[in-house]
Amino acid sequence: MPIIAPSLLAADFANLQRDCEMINQSEADWFHIDVMDGVFVPNISFGMPVIDAINRHAKKTLDVHLMIVQPERYISDFKKIGADILTVHYEASTHLHRTLQAIKAEGMKAGVALNPHTPVSLLKDVIQDIDLVCMMSVNPGFGGQKFIEKTYDKVKELKQIITDAGASTLIEIDGGVTSANAAQLVEAGADVLVAGSFVFKSENPIETIAGLKKA
Ligand code: DX5
Ligand code: ZN
Repeated sequence: MPIIAPSLLAADFANLQRDCEMINQSEADWFHIDVMDGVFVPNISFGMPVIDAINRHAKKTLDVHLMIVQPERYISDFKKIGADILTVHYEASTHLHRTLQAIKAEGMKAGVALNPHTPVSLLKDVIQDIDLVCMMSVNPGFGGQKFIEKTYDKVKELKQIITDAGASTLIEIDGGVTSANAAQLVEAGADVLVAGSFVFKSENPIETIAGLKKA
């Protein structure tokens, strides 16, 4: 069964506690938390005080996705506010290997996110050091975008790289995930499904999460 990580970007920020409790009660496994700086991506989401507040109510793994430039500046800050997994963008990390070691030295799992245009082959020489690859299936910056179909091929190629290296890296899909593509993504090799609008804009988020879990 895939790991399900609802993205709080689509939550009601005026009712964050309620939405965190909904995730606690659901079959979801992780909280996916999108940090955007208005520089790496054209949007600004939220920062430390909001994540700190989420952490006070969340009873599951905090999966923090940094869409910011120079993410290495804030590694220990995110540890302090409860991040369990810290993901940086390949495109924002000049010294990716060093950044991954720094994340792990803080006791977090280290993730790398790839934009849709970035070839998965670029991760070959560092795959052993990566706990999670966050494969963007939309251009990062906004929720509610259309899933990019090319993602299936990229997942298969990445899965092969992981298998060839004997690594245990998880593949996470982020952007435009719905019940229409979830099963095919899992079949292609996805381990983790992030879903924002599909969960939070649905009539019954708990049931929607349960449906994704069965993918
Ligand atoms: C996009 C974010 C995603 C986003 C997904 O930049 O990284 O996590 O919240 O939202 P949906 O599921 O609505 O595409
Ligand atoms: Zn994300």
